[in-house]
Amino acid sequence: MTTTSSSILPSELEDLVALFDVRGTDTPTPDAEREAALASPRFGTVFTDHMARISWRQEDGWLDRRIEKYGPLQLDPATAVLHYAQEIFEGMKAYRHDDGSVWTFRPDANAARFARSAHRLALPALSVEDFVGSIAALVRTDAAWVPSGEDSSLYLRPFMFASEAFLGVRPAAEVEYLVIASPVGPYFAGGVKPVSIWVDEEYHRAGPGGTGDAKYGGNYAASLLPQQLAADNGCDQVCFLDAATNTHLEELGGMNVFVVMDDGSVHTPELTGSFLEGVTRSSILRLATDRGHEAVERRIPLTEVVEGLADGTVREIFACGTAAVVTPVGRLLGSTFDRQVGDGEPGALTMEIREQLTGIQYGRVADPHGWMRRLA
Ligand code: COI
Repeated sequence: MTTTSSSILPSELEDLVALFDVRGTDTPTPDAEREAALASPRFGTVFTDHMARISWRQEDGWLDRRIEKYGPLQLDPATAVLHYAQEIFEGMKAYRHDDGSVWTFRPDANAARFARSAHRLALPALSVEDFVGSIAALVRTDAAWVPSGEDSSLYLRPFMFASEAFLGVRPAAEVEYLVIASPVGPYFAGGVKPVSIWVDEEYHRAGPGGTGDAKYGGNYAASLLPQQLAADNGCDQVCFLDAATNTHLEELGGMNVFVVMDDGSVHTPELTGSFLEGVTRSSILRLATDRGHEAVERRIPLTEVVEGLADGTVREIFACGTAAVVTPVGRLLGSTFDRQVGDGEPGALTMEIREQLTGIQYGRVADPHGWMRRLA
């Protein structure tokens, strides 16, 4: 059974995990060191003892499913990814519930997006079974690394890259897929506080027909200079406008964006193919609708938001993503405007949606759409 879109049953998960040969480290992190790392996790700085790995060869397909010691990869200087950036990734989390069990959120959606990204980057498709199986196998091996503190989780980073040593410009015939894991707290250093956004009117992250809707490292590389400009202007994140007209909101450096209007409707940029279709984004559209709010995907002109913040028709703005969860925006800044969002405090609906989403993820409230999958 190899698919890119099925939903895996708990009974099937056992068989998928069993495909992974666990080659455990002989130098595990001492308990005290691990506990110290779990006590104050900072985003993406500390990694667990193991990583999941599957190799791909054009002539053989996917082979050698294993869990191995986390450590540096040895790469030939001619490795294709170092030259042509043929690489994709995903972002997911494992959450510890009060009873000690460990769960993840909508892994099938991430698996499906990973397959779409692979297609766009001419990388081989990984089945949803291997994607979910690799995550479960790694989380079970490193279960002690899943934190239990408020707002903390084990961030999972599946990625795939062209590992063939070859300088010709063509899809690589050798590819590696790995999953690494890092205990994390809030993505923004200040915790769950309103962040400021710099709207970049000079640079674009991606354009029509490009790679913008793939979770591709190059999109993030393209966001770094604008993100630096955002920081130079005293902001936490950059917001990109569409490359075709430079007038409509698209996405932030590493997360999607929502605008809440004064009639309670919730708006987010409609998918154009040039920015990422966030799993958190689609979940919020669903939850907002469930809560009786009109949830609208449409083209959102920057001018409408800037004017709306001045006249009160725009009530709240928030960012969302796996890493960012739901983060209130307190200020929107550009070369010709500087607007506070509401009274600068987290918006009420923003925090309600955040509470419901994290409640589902941490098992505190009902999961009406069956989004959670138990891993361990
Ligand atoms: C995520 O939200 O998981 C992301 O991938 C964003 C980012 C940290 C690049």
